[in-house]
Amino acid sequence: MSKKVFLSGIQPSGKPHIGNYFGMMKQLLGQPEDYEVYVLIVDYHAMKSVRDSKEMKENIIAVVLDYLALGLDPNKVTFFKQSDVSEHTELCWIFDTITTMPYLMRAHAFKDAEAKNKEIDVGTFNYPMLMAADILLYGPDIIPVGADQKQHIEIARDTALKFNNTYGETFKLPEAMIMKEVAIIPGTDGQKMSKSYNNTIPLFAEYEEIKKAVMSIVTDSRGGVPQNVFAIHKLFRNENELNKIYAEKAGKYKELKELLVEDLEKFIAPLREKRKEFAKDIPKALAILKAGGEKAKKVASAKMDEVREKIGVSVY
Ligand code: TRP
Repeated sequence: MSKKVFLSGIQPSGKPHIGNYFGMMKQLLGQPEDYEVYVLIVDYHAMKSVRDSKEMKENIIAVVLDYLALGLDPNKVTFFKQSDVSEHTELCWIFDTITTMPYLMRAHAFKDAEAKNKEIDVGTFNYPMLMAADILLYGPDIIPVGADQKQHIEIARDTALKFNNTYGETFKLPEAMIMKEVAIIPGTDGQKMSKSYNNTIPLFAEYEEIKKAVMSIVTDSRGGVPQNVFAIHKLFRNENELNKIYAEKAGKYKELKELLVEDLEKFIAPLREKRKEFAKDIPKALAILKAGGEKAKKVASAKMDEVREKIGVSVY
């Protein structure tokens, strides 16, 4: 029996925080051993928001270091970037030719963009077609995504079906695996932790940064338990134990925050140190990504040969 294939795409968009980790990254890295796994950095997709070459480079390098530090094993996972496998954009064009504008106009992401600005670039409109190509080239069974990406997976399935119906059985239909957010991870102000709210604790934070973030947690407490501190603390220590500690130290916010700082430091320090190790030799880290691209290219190029055969452009 062949292994199940699992594929995941990551936007290279800046510093991850502990909300990203517990919401998504942890689940992504904790996949069963016996799957064949592809993880791709979707740098061409990121072009719709990153239009500065230096920032793009830095973001790509940062994602590579982040995932290596978190324990992604390149011997088990094909870890690569989209722009290294030109078959993605090539297949995207082919999908464009079998997809209608009204169909893509129903995409939530397009509708949201349209509501905000009148001049949407073609790349944003076409985003789901490139994503369909990312997926379908590798014949994955399962795509882990947040709920906001569910429609994109449906579009990939529709596109696979449309192609199969037109040219004969070629693409396997993938399933979305909707990752439940473990809970909404609150930020330092009690709202959901998010870069756009400026309330994050970075996943690779330095000790001083952790301290500063924790000390700034808004303590809105009625029963002597600072809820926002507790909610973050729960991710790092058993709840029963915490209930006891918080009862003993009722009202002593500073001490409770100090304990949270220590618990965060215990969790973050090893990750931060590992990331620094990888950062000492960036060319080596990038060589891992490059080798992943070469591996992915073999699979993608075999699939594209099949596609070209099916559509009739292979005449030699
Ligand atoms: N659209 C996805 C997101 O914003 C990123 C993505 C691009 C992706 N291509 C993919 C995710 C392929 C899974 C599979 O998160």
